[in-house]
Amino acid sequence: MRVELGELGFAEGGALLIKRALRLAAAGGQISVSGSAPDLELHLRSWCRMEGHTLQWLGDSQALITVAATVAARWSGAERAGSPDPSAPGAIAEHAPRRWGLAARGALVENGSPEFAFPLADKMEVWSIDAGRLYAQGAAAQWDPAVAIPWNTEFDLPFEVEDAVVQIMTYLIENETAALLVPSRFVSQVHPHFREVMQVLALQAADEARHIEVFTRRALLKRQELGLSTSGGQASLKTLVEEPDFAIASFLLSVLGEGTFLSLLWFLERRAPDPVTAAVCRLAAQDEARHVAFGVAHLRERISQDSGILPKLANAVRRRHDALRYTAGLNAEVFDALVLVASGSWDPSDLRRGHENVMRLVREMDEFRQKRMVHLGFGEAEAQELSGLHTRNFM
Ligand SMILES: [Fe+2]
Ligand SMILES: [Fe+2]
Repeated sequence: MRVELGELGFAEGGALLIKRALRLAAAGGQISVSGSAPDLELHLRSWCRMEGHTLQWLGDSQALITVAATVAARWSGAERAGSPDPSAPGAIAEHAPRRWGLAARGALVENGSPEFAFPLADKMEVWSIDAGRLYAQGAAAQWDPAVAIPWNTEFDLPFEVEDAVVQIMTYLIENETAALLVPSRFVSQVHPHFREVMQVLALQAADEARHIEVFTRRALLKRQELGLSTSGGQASLKTLVEEPDFAIASFLLSVLGEGTFLSLLWFLERRAPDPVTAAVCRLAAQDEARHVAFGVAHLRERISQDSGILPKLANAVRRRHDALRYTAGLNAEVFDALVLVASGSWDPSDLRRGHENVMRLVREMDEFRQKRMVHLGFGEAEAQELSGLHTRNFM
C-alpha cells in the first residue's frame, strides 16, 4: 500500500492518511510513504517509535513502515458495551461491568480501561423500559421561568392571604430542596450504561432547581422575608435525604412524597388567590407527574422481578414513621395557611368551606397513595396501613 503525501506535512493532516493506511494493512504488513514536506523523516521517526511501528527511511523522500503487532492487539480484547438502542436484543446488560466505566452504551471499550465503582450497576435495581420515553417527554416539557409565569400581572391580596401564600412557598422550597438532593445523590451512583435513567434523574434535579426558583420568586413578589421553617418538617425531610437505598428512597420520595405533592400542587393551582401562584403550582405539578411516573415505573418493574422487596419498602415506611413519631410533621402554620388560601377570606362560612376543602385534600392524598401502592403490588390492607403511616409533612 502506498501513501503519497506530496507537500502535505505529517502534522498538517498527513498523519491521518498514514494511520488510515496502517489500519487497512494487517499487523506485520507494510506501507510505503512518500512526501516532500520538510522534516517528514523526523516526524515519521519519532511517531513510529512512539507507536511501535518499524520505520525504514529509504532516502529520496521515501519510507517503508512495518505495522506493529500491538496495533491489532490493542483492540483484540476490546468489548462492545451493549447497544445504544435500548430495544435492541442484549442492549442493556443485566450487570454493567466496572470496566465499561463512562463509555457510551454501544461503544467498543478498549481492554484495560480504568474501572469505575458505580454502586448501582444492576439492571434490576434501576432500569425502566419507560426511562427513555420519560426523559424525552421531560426534555420537551422544560419551561422558562422568565416567560412561562405571568410575573407582571397586577394583583393585590388581603394582607394575611399574602402571608399565607409566602408561608406555603417557604414550605414548598424546603421540600423541593429535598427532592433535588435525592436524585442528585443517586445520579452519580447509577452506572452510565443505564444512560436514560441517568438522564431522567439529572432532568429531575433540574426540574426541582426551577421549582425552587419560582417558589422563591413568588414568595418575594410582595414581601421582603420568607415564612417559617420548622424542625418537624426538616426532621421528615432528613430521613428522606439520608436514605441510602435507591429503591427505598425512590419509594419514599417519588411514589409517596411527590405523589402526595401532586395532589397538593393541583389543589393550590385550583385554589390559588392570584395568577402567579396558580402558574407556578401548575408548572411544578406537571413536572412532578413525570417524577412520580418514573418512580412508579422502575419500582413496578423491580417488584415484578423480585417481590421480596415489598416488605423492605413497607418496613422503611414503618421505620420512618417511628423515627418521626415525636415530631409535629406538617407545621401548623402551613396547615392554617392552606385553610386560609382555600377560604379566601376570614368570613366564618368561607373558613368552614376552606377547612373542608383542605380535609378533602388530605383524604385525596391518602387515596392516591393507596392506589399507587396497590399498583406497585401491595395488598389493599397493607397499602391502607402504610398510607396512614406516611409522614404528616406530606413529602
Ligand atoms: Fe418539585
Ligand atoms: Fe419532583
